[in-house]
Amino acid sequence: MEAGMDERAKTVVADIAVVGCGHVGLVVASCFATLGHRVTAIDVDAARVASIRSGVSPIYEPGLDALLRQALDSGRLEVVEGTPDALRAEFVFLAVGTPPSTGGASDLRAVRDAVTALAPVLRPDAVIVNKSTVPIGTGDLVAQMAKHFGAPGLAVVSNPEFLQEGTAIDNFMRPDRVVLGSSDARARERVAALFEPLGAPMVLTDLRTAEMIKYASNAFLATKVSFVNEMSSICEVVGADIAEVARGMGFDERIGRQYLRAGIGWGGSCFPKDVAALEHTASTFGAHPQLLRHVIEINREQRRRVLGKVREALGTLEGRRILVLGAAFKPHTDDIRESPALEVADLMQLAGAEVLVHDPHVRQEAVSAAFPSLALADDLLTAAAGADALVLATEWPEFVDLPLDDLAAVMRRRLIVDGRNVLDPATVRGAGFAYRCIGRPALEGDPPSTAPNWRDAEVDTDTLGVGTPVGRR
Ligand code: UGA
Repeated sequence: MEAGMDERAKTVVADIAVVGCGHVGLVVASCFATLGHRVTAIDVDAARVASIRSGVSPIYEPGLDALLRQALDSGRLEVVEGTPDALRAEFVFLAVGTPPSTGGASDLRAVRDAVTALAPVLRPDAVIVNKSTVPIGTGDLVAQMAKHFGAPGLAVVSNPEFLQEGTAIDNFMRPDRVVLGSSDARARERVAALFEPLGAPMVLTDLRTAEMIKYASNAFLATKVSFVNEMSSICEVVGADIAEVARGMGFDERIGRQYLRAGIGWGGSCFPKDVAALEHTASTFGAHPQLLRHVIEINREQRRRVLGKVREALGTLEGRRILVLGAAFKPHTDDIRESPALEVADLMQLAGAEVLVHDPHVRQEAVSAAFPSLALADDLLTAAAGADALVLATEWPEFVDLPLDDLAAVMRRRLIVDGRNVLDPATVRGAGFAYRCIGRPALEGDPPSTAPNWRDAEVDTDTLGVGTPVGRR
């Protein structure tokens, strides 16, 4: 038997602390309690702690309220505000926020504060397990800090999280892989034992490699989306359909089907922050991350493309009334951080349009904090009354199944710009709407386009049969 295997075999019930009760921390704490461990969840925010203690998750995540209540009722989860006088936990998971700061760097204050406060109250054999996404090298910094603040023997393990908002519980319980990085092989095996019951492949490596795996994974997924978005703009000029192109590519197992949905671009609390942070770290260390810079730029361009489509169809944005469907950065979350939907809404407002936003879960206070002049409407049809265009920006199920006849009756102009390619073009057009989307050919009857259109193209045999739009020669 390998040196570490006996560690894994003997894990039963452990004392675990989870520091930070945001999206990741709360899911991790509730899931570990469900797996039978004794969990102490710690947060510095009194209101958040009160809400969690009463069994109400302060964030919207499907299934989390029920899991949380079950964990509290079982007595295996306790929630503590601030720093406890002593912590019996053998494993301390750090799940504090690392928001973006100047120039793409990550703000590590919450990590530093947590380590400074906790180091003196930890057991000497405790393992700090870092789940927060932190710049490469932060694990080493945490170990140095722990030493400085009174916990010299503390082991540090990096265990990046791969939870997606909206499916976080399932992602925890059925992970594709568990990554554990540390220079302390025994500590790494002790943490591995906690994840053993999940039956996932384990990647046991060093600290910096584990930290890099997290960034490289998010950057790769963001690259895939930016790639398909670039393909979508090519599809528009050559007259191909990006949805079919992605389907045709996705059957190839080397490519895979996921993250090939073209649309208004990626957003959220992770991709934008992590791609920028990786670009920043790489530049700081003297590497030249050219691809990452283009991946970010293509994503910015997607917002402008949507704006261009609305402007093109309406002639101008000035004074036009536009309803944006969706405020969350993706469906099944109320998270609006770096939301493409709100960025597009904001850009249209800046261009002189009168913009209303409608979302089934996002609240006005959250939107106002980020975009003070953007108004949210509760009722779809009331908000659509008199609108010149409807822009579908987040693919909530209720937006995929729109009451098209009712909308047609109340809107001033019948135009739908589908920023997520989720509506059926024939159905939308059948209800009397002009329909625009991303990377799928326009049809007769759609509003005039100033962009070169494949239908106007003559086949030029001199250029290997590639059609060149007549007006562009
Ligand atoms: C992402 C990763 O998928 C998780 O593995 C990771 O743990 C997490 O970041 C994190 O670092 O914490 P999440 O931010 O919840 O998860 O978002 P995703 O579901 O990955 O979507 C990201 C963005 O890409 C969204 O704006 C989504 O609309 C967009 N997207 C995704 C597309 O535009 N097209 C696609 O085909 C897929």
